[in-house]
Amino acid sequence: MNVREIFETMDYGPAPEDAAQAMAWLDAHKRTFGHFIDGKWTKPARSFPSKNPATGEILAKVSQANASDIDKAVAAARKAHKAWAKDAKTRARVLYALARLIQKQSRLFATLETLDNGKPIRESRDIDIPLVARHFYYHAGMAQLMDAELPDREALGVCGQIIPWNFPLLMLAWKIAPALAMGNTVVLKPAEYTSLTALLFADLSREAGVPPGVLNIVTGDGSSGEAIVKHSDIDKIAFTGSTSVGRKIRSETAGSGKKLTLELGGKSPYIVFDDADIDSAIEGLVDAIWFNQGQVCCAGSRLLVQEGISDGFYTALKARMDKLRVGDPLDKCIDVGAVVDPVQLETITKLVSESAGDIYHAACEMPEKGCYYPPTLITGLSTADNLMQEEVFGPVLVATTFRTPGEAVELANNTRYGLAATVWTENVNLALDIAPKLTAGVVWVNATNLFDAAAGFGGVRESGFGREGGWEGLAAYTKSKGKAAKLVQIAPVAAPEKADVESLDRTAKLYIGGNQARPDGGYSQAVWSPKGRLLGHAGLANRKDLRNAVEAMNGAQGWGRTTGHLRAQVLYYLGENLSARSDEFARRINHMTGKRGGAAEVDASIDRLFTWAAWADKYDGAAKGVPLRGIALAMNEPVGKIVAFASDDAPLLGLVSVIAPAMAMGNRITLIASEPYPLAATDFYQVLDTSDVPGGVINILTGSHTELAPQAGGHMDVDAVWTFSGRDLSTVIEREAAGNVKRTWVNNGKGHDWSKVDAATFLAAATEVKTVWVPYGE
Ligand code: NAI
Repeated sequence: MNVREIFETMDYGPAPEDAAQAMAWLDAHKRTFGHFIDGKWTKPARSFPSKNPATGEILAKVSQANASDIDKAVAAARKAHKAWAKDAKTRARVLYALARLIQKQSRLFATLETLDNGKPIRESRDIDIPLVARHFYYHAGMAQLMDAELPDREALGVCGQIIPWNFPLLMLAWKIAPALAMGNTVVLKPAEYTSLTALLFADLSREAGVPPGVLNIVTGDGSSGEAIVKHSDIDKIAFTGSTSVGRKIRSETAGSGKKLTLELGGKSPYIVFDDADIDSAIEGLVDAIWFNQGQVCCAGSRLLVQEGISDGFYTALKARMDKLRVGDPLDKCIDVGAVVDPVQLETITKLVSESAGDIYHAACEMPEKGCYYPPTLITGLSTADNLMQEEVFGPVLVATTFRTPGEAVELANNTRYGLAATVWTENVNLALDIAPKLTAGVVWVNATNLFDAAAGFGGVRESGFGREGGWEGLAAYTKSKGKAAKLVQIAPVAAPEKADVESLDRTAKLYIGGNQARPDGGYSQAVWSPKGRLLGHAGLANRKDLRNAVEAMNGAQGWGRTTGHLRAQVLYYLGENLSARSDEFARRINHMTGKRGGAAEVDASIDRLFTWAAWADKYDGAAKGVPLRGIALAMNEPVGKIVAFASDDAPLLGLVSVIAPAMAMGNRITLIASEPYPLAATDFYQVLDTSDVPGGVINILTGSHTELAPQAGGHMDVDAVWTFSGRDLSTVIEREAAGNVKRTWVNNGKGHDWSKVDAATFLAAATEVKTVWVPYGE
């Protein structure tokens, strides 16, 4: 094209980035890599190629890690841990040096990323790499502040981290920076398609003074990932990738005591109201679904547009799509680059070809060779269609319409995922009314795909659990200092040879939806005092009773929308009404346990209710000052529906200490009472009845923990399961929880000290941070 033609067409000429430096680095390593373990390169073994998806060219060969490589990496990380965890100030300096290093080598990283992944250089240069540097800066600060601000927390130990190929270096930064800042050492495995920037990072990390063993990078496919997950000397697994692998990892780690965070897939809604700034909303869509070829876990891949404007919107959108430039990712003028691998291209092609919708492929010029897929819009699908529900992970947008804001929310939430959502409207009232109603970990208002180290990122439902970024992200890389109490397992008192039966039997049923309900199975257990007195009967709940309790929790959804002020009053009232009956409860506890601690336990329970009443209106969120036009609001939302197994000991205090924080934060809870001492819980029904607790917010079942644990863990309509039971139910609960990727809080054979209030842990378990990005300021 000559100058005259350029002026006539106003088209861009090519502006290719020079790949020479990246190639020179690969050449310096003879284009063959081992693993980076204990600060050194291992000898390459079982190599496989890493290709440039734009050309098919083999860039380098990387090694496939086997169990023995993982062993070595974990051993190095373990050896380095103690010294690294000791000195937060040194860590701050090393992380700062890493941030500077990323900036100093930003072009090298950006070019290598684009070569290996196929993403446009514009994106790797202007988005990925700057965000990587930002993450290290931010977490250098977290290391600096750790001793002062988190005096009760310490590192977990060795973290195994497994990341995907869509943002290779950025995902590495999201995983490594908080882990290292908090004093952990890591073994990280990049995705098999995109290992090269992780290896470059490892190579350069020595220049930032990262001590040997603190950072270990092993390469390989899913089997190397599995070896990390299975390794017995790893304290935490952090995973980002597909929901199906996330599920596998959940079951694989069940009961192992390994901490786990999962950042999984999504089918995020992009909602456009009829008063939206249409041009901006369309430009936003370019960033939502054509950014990184749509290979983004939080991509706005499901367009919901208000019916009145849909025709015009689709027309304008198609016009914009036709103007997108697809081609050589190293060309700075390119909008859409190459899909990561032929395998992924095949998946996208197959998913779209099987769709019965109206398929529109952008009329843009397509490269003749390489791994490219055109920007695509599919309309005319029903809400249940595969492509409306399943993640494509490609440049494919599906769209449908809605009429009312209520319908928009229903459609948006009609998915098993809950990662992100975008809302476009010029009406601030509408945007801020919709944001809390969306089931998603992140909501963007009049913007999309914004990320920052200070703003927590992560999902709900089958999009996983745990947050990355912000103060909330640190919880996943730290634990409370101090030793755990011993797990107390208490056997129910056996029937005596000569029974002492009271004259009038009080029948305790189950407490479901604010009513007393007979156990479905028609079985009860006798509860004896150690002195041989029959104290009463407690129903044996089964799977159907649990199901009814979940239904009752569904009926009490409004509790999550009540104010903290109201919830505080209900909790105070519970305390007041318990106090009015304290003698009766104290006697009951003494009879059941055969000890004299009843009065003190009742007193502590009243105090506990007051503590959680106090917290109900004080666990505020935060406004994060992000370096973009806007603020990110961190809103503490209730987790939803929780099933909890009470501890064997402390029959009343153990119950109150669990239901009160759950309630205070707006959750609904079904508690399975202490198995040996269930009658304090059944007596508590009457306190609940007189304290304005709406039916279904608290449900109490009595019965066998072992029998109910798999049912609770596997229930697809429960959001979290907690256990303090004397029987160690950790394995079964976590394994079953993989089904809908629910949150779990299990005790792994450790007890709980009910004499103290571990407010931070309960508050974190009872809430989920939703990050809402809103325009603010200039
Ligand atoms: P994947 O989930 O299989 O791979 C992600 C990472 O996990 C890679 O490092 C891989 O080696 C590792 N891995 C695979 N199997 C493992 C196992 N059993 N144990 C431990 N680690 C294991 O994702 P994949 O196959 O690359 O892509 C398939 C689909 O997953 C995509 O089409 C997309 O829909 C989705 N995906 C979602 C991502 C997200 O961020 N939400 C990221 C990548 C893929």
